Amino acid sequence: MATTLIQGGTVVTAVDTFLGDVLITGDKIAAIFDPKSTPPMKADLTIDAKGKYVMPGGIDAHTHMDMPFGGTNSSDDFETGTLAAAFGGTTSIVDFAIQAKGENLRKGLDTWHAKAEGVAAVDYAFHMIMTDVNDATAEEMGQVVKEGVTSFKLFMAYPGVLYADDGMIFRAMQRASELGALICMHAENGIPIDILIAQALKLGHTAPKYHTLTRPQIAEEEGTFRAICLAEMAGCPLYLVHLSAERALKRVVEARDRGLPTYAETCPQYLFLSDQDLARETGEYGAFEGAKFVCTPPLRPAYMQEELWRGLRTHDLQVVSTDHCPFCMKGQKELGRESFAKIPNGMPGVETRLYMLWDGGVRKGRISMNRFVEITSTAPAKLFGLYPHKGTIAPGADADIVVWDPEKKHTLSQKTLHMRVDYTPYEGQEVTGAPSHVLSRGKVVIENFTYKGKKGDGRFMRRATFGL
Ligand code: URP
Ligand code: ZN
Ligand code: ZN
Repeated sequence: MATTLIQGGTVVTAVDTFLGDVLITGDKIAAIFDPKSTPPMKADLTIDAKGKYVMPGGIDAHTHMDMPFGGTNSSDDFETGTLAAAFGGTTSIVDFAIQAKGENLRKGLDTWHAKAEGVAAVDYAFHMIMTDVNDATAEEMGQVVKEGVTSFKLFMAYPGVLYADDGMIFRAMQRASELGALICMHAENGIPIDILIAQALKLGHTAPKYHTLTRPQIAEEEGTFRAICLAEMAGCPLYLVHLSAERALKRVVEARDRGLPTYAETCPQYLFLSDQDLARETGEYGAFEGAKFVCTPPLRPAYMQEELWRGLRTHDLQVVSTDHCPFCMKGQKELGRESFAKIPNGMPGVETRLYMLWDGGVRKGRISMNRFVEITSTAPAKLFGLYPHKGTIAPGADADIVVWDPEKKHTLSQKTLHMRVDYTPYEGQEVTGAPSHVLSRGKVVIENFTYKGKKGDGRFMRRATFGL
């Protein structure tokens, strides 16, 4: 079996920071040595990590590759999206397989396996989006869980598309509780939102900025509280996806203070961007520039960002994932030129997450390095049944490792990023900190911004049931 020694670096896990030489045998971490007592050895490959941090590879628990939405498909597929993930230091993704309305779960899951198999650059797993919960599909959840898909997402938003009513949600939660599965919730009340959208359009309010004005934070707060209540009634753990609003966070804090198994993620766009970006009316696309920033829930007033950072520091929020759902401006976002409601919802981010969180989180003193590792890797691994194979640096774990150069400066630009989309929301931003090496199950896939892996290296990960 091939051996690799990562020598001279500082190992950073969610709890520890120490000098350590990491020995990899095959696809696993075999040992971690105190550098003073590393036995003499001739590894097949030695990586010099002096002055660098050795951290578990990122886990992005919320991506949408090749997702049909708004009359088009998200522009990254599993090949391009996982390659971009690897460039940015993310070695596992959990994507959302979709049950189409009126179809069974099997068909949705098979469709997603076919999209990913043989093309992914890094390991991948699936959550299952349920759009139809009935006796048959509730029963089917058991089979899906057996196959390692142990979390289910439901939508309180998007009536007529992905929306599930309270009865469906509650039924899925009851079944999740029996199966040890986790319910992920898009907690935003889409019924009044659709009325606000129709009213705005009637007044001729068609610009991208109306996306946030018609999705007020109270719609997210109400959805969050309702999801928490329904989950408490059903006795199942709940994970609120893409939490964006201060008032929604307060509901999560209350639930957690009461001891409920309530968890939540936020995303870089809610930490670094605001409704002012959505209101941009100058730039390459003129009055339509804001379309780049249309995602759901929408970008919020900037003051909420500090509340989210506080939540991350104090463990009220557990995870930062990306909700990577890119659409090109040309030919895709453009579908909404005449109406903000037709702009496909979503933003690119799978490649830029670690850059933004290191630069804007660790370097700015908002979170520690250990918390950085926890929210980008360890916590999602634990919540989604991947730990301890993924999410830490320890003997026996998969050798999914990022050797991180904390001083490496570079400028984020669509021209040099690898996501298949014609813009980045962070164009021109200089960041410090980047991976010098990314290893996926022991194999170097990225070295100094060069891809060394091959198409199809990534494997499907069967996840364990909820164990926290
Ligand atoms: O804007 C977003 N978030 N698009 C993807 C679908 C979802 O709601 O996660
Ligand atoms: Zn969502
Ligand atoms: Zn999403």
